[in-house]
Amino acid sequence: MSAMGNNLSTRITLEQSRVVVVGGTSGIGFAVAEAAAHAGAEVIVASSNPERVAVALKRLPEGTRGESFDVTDETQMSAFFARVGAFDHLVYTAGESLLLQTLAELSIEAAQQAFEVRYWGALKAVKYATPLIRKGGSITLTSGVASTRPLPAWTIASSILGAMESLTRALAVELAPLRVNAVAPGVLRTDMWNSMSETDREGLYTFIAEKMPVQRVGEASDVAQTYLHLMQQGYSTGQVVVVDGGHVLV
Ligand SMILES: NC(=O)c1ccc[n+]([C@@H]2O[C@H](COP(=O)([O-])OP(=O)(O)OC[C@H]3O[C@@H](n4cnc5c(N)ncnc54)[C@H](OP(=O)(O)O)[C@@H]3O)[C@@H](O)[C@H]2O)c1
Repeated sequence: MSAMGNNLSTRITLEQSRVVVVGGTSGIGFAVAEAAAHAGAEVIVASSNPERVAVALKRLPEGTRGESFDVTDETQMSAFFARVGAFDHLVYTAGESLLLQTLAELSIEAAQQAFEVRYWGALKAVKYATPLIRKGGSITLTSGVASTRPLPAWTIASSILGAMESLTRALAVELAPLRVNAVAPGVLRTDMWNSMSETDREGLYTFIAEKMPVQRVGEASDVAQTYLHLMQQGYSTGQVVVVDGGHVLV
């Protein structure tokens, strides 16, 4: 990883950098891992299911490495980063199916549990990754447009996203000069929606696409370049970049 030009240059190249994508075996993380590898980075992906890791590694560019561990387990998280060693950019995209329930239906225990992978997992990853990130590196977390545009039954999902955005800003201040940003995607066709029946899922995609300025829901590849941009844009920190096809407007 190197800064180009003079000392004030803010452009960072991914050539020969090391990029760790926690949640990189599927959806957004997979697309980021693929794009970073094509940009010349050595990429390490991680997620909880060893079979998914193996399948992802078969599809990702040669040289990509992978490990399985559960982000809810602090000991596993710390051991993973100790094995990784020094690297340049952390991307965190791990997340399971969304908890979408009205307040009346919601169990408080399930609501608290819902923060484990997305919020507490991200915090643990940042805690153990930060000492290993080389000068000029970055952290990119993941939020979503439901942070600012929730629907009924999105109370917990939206709260997690809001927490992620505040976490991003707080970390950017505390960990400076290490840069910390987040990407807030709109609705994308990924495995995250697989807990819905195919009919419900396609109904959701169609309902949203019809309202959207770009007239379609997104693909993971639509947002991957934004993660790469934030890794390489050395003057951005504490920012939440919305990539949603105009969803927040309608
Ligand atoms: N898709 C969307 O429409 C959308 C929109 C806005 C925001 N987002 C956010 O973007 C993030 C990624 O979503 P996605 O669409 O890429 O989802 P995805 O395709 O389901 O990928 C989620 C990844 O997280 C990993 N994961 C889940 N639980 C884990 C655990 N306990 N430990 C380690 N890894 C774990 C999964 O692998 P394993 O199963 O192997 O663990 C998988 O690699 C989520 O936070 C989501 O809320 C998504």
